Amino acid sequence: MSMRRPCLLLICFLAATAAAVPAVGQSQAKEKRAGPLPIPSLQIPFGEKFIGSAATAKPLESKIKGSPQAFNMHQDGGNTGTIDYPAPLGRNLELKTGIQSLHILMWTRSGQLVAGYTKIGLSGLQWGLAAVDDETLELQAEWYPEREGQTLNVAYMELLLDTDEIVVTSKEGQIYVVQLTTEGGINLDLTRMENLTSVLGPGELLMNAMYDTQKNLWFSSGGLRAQGGHGDAEQNSSTFGYIEPDGTVHVQHFQDQMVENGIGLNGTTVFALTGPSGAAANGSRADGYFYAFGPGPGTSITTLWSVAYDAGDTQKPGSYSRGSGATPALLGDQYVAITDNANGQVNLVIYHQTKQTDSPQTVCQVPVFPEGKSNIDIAPLAHKQGDKYGVFLCNDYNAPPLYYLDTGLNGDWNNLTQMEPGVIRIDVAADGSGCEVAWEVPDLRIQSVPVISTNNGLVYGYTQAVGPTKYGKWTWYVVALDWETGEEVWRLRTGAGGTYNDDYQPGAIGPDGGFYQGVIGGIIKVTDGPDE
Ligand SMILES: *[C@@H]1O[C@H](CO)[C@@H](O)[C@H](O)[C@H]1NC(C)=O
Ligand SMILES: *[C@@H]1O[C@H](CO)[C@@H](O)[C@H](O)[C@H]1NC(C)=O
Ligand SMILES: *[C@@H]1O[C@H](CO)[C@@H](O)[C@H](O)[C@H]1NC(C)=O
Ligand SMILES: *[C@@H]1O[C@H](CO)[C@@H](O)[C@H](O)[C@H]1NC(C)=O
Ligand SMILES: *[C@@H]1O[C@H](CO)[C@@H](O)[C@H](O)[C@H]1NC(C)=O
Repeated sequence: MSMRRPCLLLICFLAATAAAVPAVGQSQAKEKRAGPLPIPSLQIPFGEKFIGSAATAKPLESKIKGSPQAFNMHQDGGNTGTIDYPAPLGRNLELKTGIQSLHILMWTRSGQLVAGYTKIGLSGLQWGLAAVDDETLELQAEWYPEREGQTLNVAYMELLLDTDEIVVTSKEGQIYVVQLTTEGGINLDLTRMENLTSVLGPGELLMNAMYDTQKNLWFSSGGLRAQGGHGDAEQNSSTFGYIEPDGTVHVQHFQDQMVENGIGLNGTTVFALTGPSGAAANGSRADGYFYAFGPGPGTSITTLWSVAYDAGDTQKPGSYSRGSGATPALLGDQYVAITDNANGQVNLVIYHQTKQTDSPQTVCQVPVFPEGKSNIDIAPLAHKQGDKYGVFLCNDYNAPPLYYLDTGLNGDWNNLTQMEPGVIRIDVAADGSGCEVAWEVPDLRIQSVPVISTNNGLVYGYTQAVGPTKYGKWTWYVVALDWETGEEVWRLRTGAGGTYNDDYQPGAIGPDGGFYQGVIGGIIKVTDGPDE
């Protein structure tokens, strides 16, 4: 996955409360307040505010850019999770928070922030997009589907960096292409809409959509499995396809398979995973499938190659998928990384991107995290340095459920300690000779989607102090790790209680050098402060 549906009701509730309350305080405030109110902590934060010490930047090689160039939850169409922007080193850190229901942050080349956005409309929760001032976190422009009742899959949207178009689907079967313009005012305007309801199979929801370099608009059905009261109904089939620039629709259906993650794309090749569903999900050692698709003749698509992977016996505790839980990540133009759902220990599996005829498609495979306590629902981060690709994975076996209203904001769903810990970096030799563990941090828990800054060599994630969870105290931290060694460099306390729970939302790094983290209560931004 990647990312699960953030809980939005609460954010909207807070936003509505904030909008109603501030007048009194504000009229007395001396300085004019710009942007949304800060996120309140719902418990008293304790524990040190800052642990560790500031890092010295250790620049890595620049990220490998695929095409078309795009920004998404995993930073690009290849889902590398890497970005070349600077990010906080830990010097006099400044924390800014805002009650603003933004989900998945993406920046244009010129530095304009655009994000998924939710508000309470007349008929309930309304999904849209927003252009945002990343300094004040104020909204600059909003866009909503014309038809109500569209649940936007903002977790799987993309921003195309050459054109500033945003491609976003709705579960109900629409693809929207929205143009962001910043000349003469900031605007978000719908430029294309495709209704795929008649193309999808019974019970299927639309999930992924991405443009390739030929302007083919690829799409897939899919959804996330139920976990702790959340998720989509099982889909017994999947649909993949694309729309040519002239409108010709290409489609292929797959029985007893369900898309449970994002897809990867480079050039005109799509990389996609399915998990077993329907009859195929029943029984031991089920197979899931990994596909490389390309454009096909007539109204077909071409399967360039496909492999079965080990999907194990069952959905693991805390997981949102029956098969692989993670969106595939491209390792340059050579390999592609997936994680499976094998019993006991899940595996990182590396394949060649191009079809192998005389040798195995698989390059190497490594079981990760302790036996019986291993699961992955977050896409790998992948970065090439010298003659190897580093692949970073987070364990989330027995992860707590998403927030839902009936358990209360400070309820046990905040307890990250129930989730098995572990983050690991595995190195894949560029010459294809194998893969091996570079380092492992056995006691760190990250349930959000982390991000690497190649500018300074740090990996940014979001975690929780373990000790206080015994007493039901939920204290949250941004944590920075050294990509080279895995060592924790610093962590910064952000707040306490359910409002500061990331609830599986991703982190992001902006062109302004800030690290941004989505949480239940809104958005957190961390920057280096001025030198003292
Ligand atoms: C999409 O098309 C279907 C018919 O195939 C129609 O029932 C539905 O209203 C359309 N949805 C939108 C949002 O236009
Ligand atoms: C999927 O298969 C299961 C078991 O055969 C069945 O109960 C369910 O109704 C099917 N769902 C759809 C959408 O066809
Ligand atoms: C799964 O297996 C059980 C036991 O063999 C059987 O009763 C059930 O109908 C099967 N379900 C599906 C969807 O095949
Ligand atoms: C992307 O595909 C193009 C061909 O369309 C190729 O030249 C390039 O090396 C690929 N890049 C990556 C990162 O896969
Ligand atoms: C949080 O989870 C840990 C591990 O399961 C458990 O030991 C602890 O008691 C839990 N905290 C609360 C308040 O239930």
